[in-house]
Amino acid sequence: MKQDNSSAIITSLYGLGGPLLINVALSVVGFFVTVRIIPLFGELFIQAGLSGRDLNKPTPSKGKEAKKVPEALGVICGAMYLIIMFTFIPIPFGKKWFENNTNNFPHNEFVEFIVALLSICCMIFLGFADDVLNLKWRHKLWLPTMATLPLLMVYMVNFGSTTVIIPKPFTQYIGTSVDLRILYYVYMGMLGVFCTNAINILAGINGIEAGQSLVIGLSIVLFNCNELAGAWSAAHRFSLYFMLPYCAVCSALLYHNWYPSHVFVGDTFCYFSGMTFAVVAILGHFSKTVLLFFIPQIVNFLYSVPQLFHFVPCPRHRLPRFNEKTNKLDMSYARFRIKNLNFIGCWIVKLLKSLHLIHVVEGVGEDKDQIEVNNFTLINFVLKLVGPTHEQTLTIYMLLIQVMCSVCAFIIRYQLARLFYDIVD
Ligand code: UD1
Ligand code: MG
Repeated sequence: MKQDNSSAIITSLYGLGGPLLINVALSVVGFFVTVRIIPLFGELFIQAGLSGRDLNKPTPSKGKEAKKVPEALGVICGAMYLIIMFTFIPIPFGKKWFENNTNNFPHNEFVEFIVALLSICCMIFLGFADDVLNLKWRHKLWLPTMATLPLLMVYMVNFGSTTVIIPKPFTQYIGTSVDLRILYYVYMGMLGVFCTNAINILAGINGIEAGQSLVIGLSIVLFNCNELAGAWSAAHRFSLYFMLPYCAVCSALLYHNWYPSHVFVGDTFCYFSGMTFAVVAILGHFSKTVLLFFIPQIVNFLYSVPQLFHFVPCPRHRLPRFNEKTNKLDMSYARFRIKNLNFIGCWIVKLLKSLHLIHVVEGVGEDKDQIEVNNFTLINFVLKLVGPTHEQTLTIYMLLIQVMCSVCAFIIRYQLARLFYDIVD
């Protein structure tokens, strides 16, 4: 009788969304602990040589050394995230155990949960290796691909569907759906590579990496909450279990990374964030919607392509240039001789110049035979539009753009998508 009562209480607690409430509680605790421990670890990171100079701050007067800012604090944020998630594992899967009913245990969901954490954990480890070893760009493309492999394997075994629904205007040519098979796995693998690197290249001013990730994270949370009562509620609850603790640790990091930054997030954080978004997108089956939340990152990536693929020279740092006199940020430039560019490079510079998408200064250098073009980043493009801006204001502008793009993403997802699909998944 007593057993019956307790299992009834457990069942109703689970029915009332108990696991979600516990997840929220763990996230709140995680936020405060992360806020507290980041400064404590900062000092240890500097002693270990993991530090960088804030390039957008005044150079110190003669004889004084530039202030060292601890780098790669994303690893503390990632470790706290894993601790929250590891503590949480028994909660959503404990119902059967509490009820003493181990039959029908949801092994499929359980393995998805564990492999999601495995991929995120791998990415934190690989990101930290990148921060310590300063890996080359070609390695940065391979690391996320490797980390998504276990995830794709579980997707294949558990779900396996590689069919995509064709938008209405094209159904008369291709049919209502098409099975992409291996290409679908390539797409999901590339999603991991894109999400991780796209955040890392929209970087360089205080608070931007953590800020943009928080806006994307909160947008996913909002989307999941809105879909909780829908046909895919289990997938959206699963996503919330991952996103709420993520938003908590990300906010804590943003608190310390906000202007003037006391810590840098490092590539570890960018990889950790990108992978967490890719994991929920893949296992929650809403990758198109997640990509909609990445509009600024997609624009920044497309704009960056000429430099990323070396059609136009790409300096080590493309972040804006600090002007000591005005205490504001200006566009940063790449300087080169136009004759050193290949045919495609020349054509790109001419095209972007005629479209007013880049600022070109001709006749620079000792022999006046060089040109300067602004580095192809969204941050520089915003500076081209608004003129020299204070670093904090620029971060706020960039985050406002991110928020506005999320609003557009919701409009596209809930209004425009109906024009293209009968059933909005
Ligand atoms: C990416 C960008 C690079 C940009 C850098 C800034 C590409 C291809 N790469 O490189 O253009 O300059 O991020 O993060 O687009 N830093 C600051 N202020 C900040 C954040 C970082 O000065 O708010 C500087 C610090 O010196 C820090 C360094 O950037 O040590 C970190 O750069 P890192 O993350 O290693 O650069 P990448 O990710 O390789
Ligand atoms: Mg970086």
